[in-house]
Amino acid sequence: MSEEFSATDPAGKAAREQAVTDEVIASFAGAAAPRYREIMQSLVRHLHAFAREVRLTDAEWQQGIEFLTRAGHITDGRRQEFILLSDVLGLSMLTVGINAPASADATESTVLGPFFVPGAPEVPLGGDITGGAKGRPCHVAGTVRGTDETPVPNARIEVWEADEDGFYDVQYSGSQLAARGWLRSGADGEYRFWAVHPAPYPIPDDGPVGDLIAAAGRGAMRPAHLHFKVDAPGYRTLITHIFVAGDPYLDRDAVFGVKDSLIVGFTEQPPGPGPDGRHVDGPWAAVTFDIVLAPQQEEQQ
Ligand code: BEZ
Ligand code: FE
Repeated sequence: MSEEFSATDPAGKAAREQAVTDEVIASFAGAAAPRYREIMQSLVRHLHAFAREVRLTDAEWQQGIEFLTRAGHITDGRRQEFILLSDVLGLSMLTVGINAPASADATESTVLGPFFVPGAPEVPLGGDITGGAKGRPCHVAGTVRGTDETPVPNARIEVWEADEDGFYDVQYSGSQLAARGWLRSGADGEYRFWAVHPAPYPIPDDGPVGDLIAAAGRGAMRPAHLHFKVDAPGYRTLITHIFVAGDPYLDRDAVFGVKDSLIVGFTEQPPGPGPDGRHVDGPWAAVTFDIVLAPQQEEQQ
């Protein structure tokens, strides 16, 4: 214990606490990478300020450690509890906002979520990504353009979604990929594919993150949506969803991912021919979503 501070004097206690913070911040001063130094020093400053503000007890920090330990133990190749934690704390959406392109004309981004997996199958333009997933057929079509309205041919459009029971393929046992795939936009930037009608579903809430939101009295539901990841040379990668207009959970998404511009009407269609002539036996839906990509070189705000 430092000599200058009295153990009982509140000012001395505050100064001792600050001395710990200063010492830890200084320990990063010699870091070779300036950005690493900046991030770690800021992290320590804010983390310590948080502990001071709530007067964190030993028992509470122990609980925090146990929470993180459980999150680590439940995370594997199919389950990502740390992304989920970032999502329910709004950190994912904050980061999306910080990194949004300056152009107001570009399609808005939202969370990637934990269910993107590499290795989805390619489907041809107009193909079907369903792969055996349960759900009402849904025809999705639109164009890919730049903010200057130039069509973007050959864009790589990857899509993934939950089935009608609200589960992604990776939440089932076995290795069958379903309700995910990628395709290329055509010569005029057009794209179209068949999928299943998205359904609302709960984020995985049987782990520590589920306990965290339950303790807050918060719901686990996400409104129905279809994920998109769009890549094209010369353009910024777009990670987004479309949400189904009228969904009851649009105003209480467990991960704060909804943006008004991403809410789209899915129109119900009677059994019969689809837009490409394919005969659909039961009811199906159609949706149009035009995608606008920001140029790659756009300055960050
Ligand atoms: C998803 O949309 O796949 C998702 C996003 C955040 C948390 C859980 C799921
Ligand atoms: Fe999702």
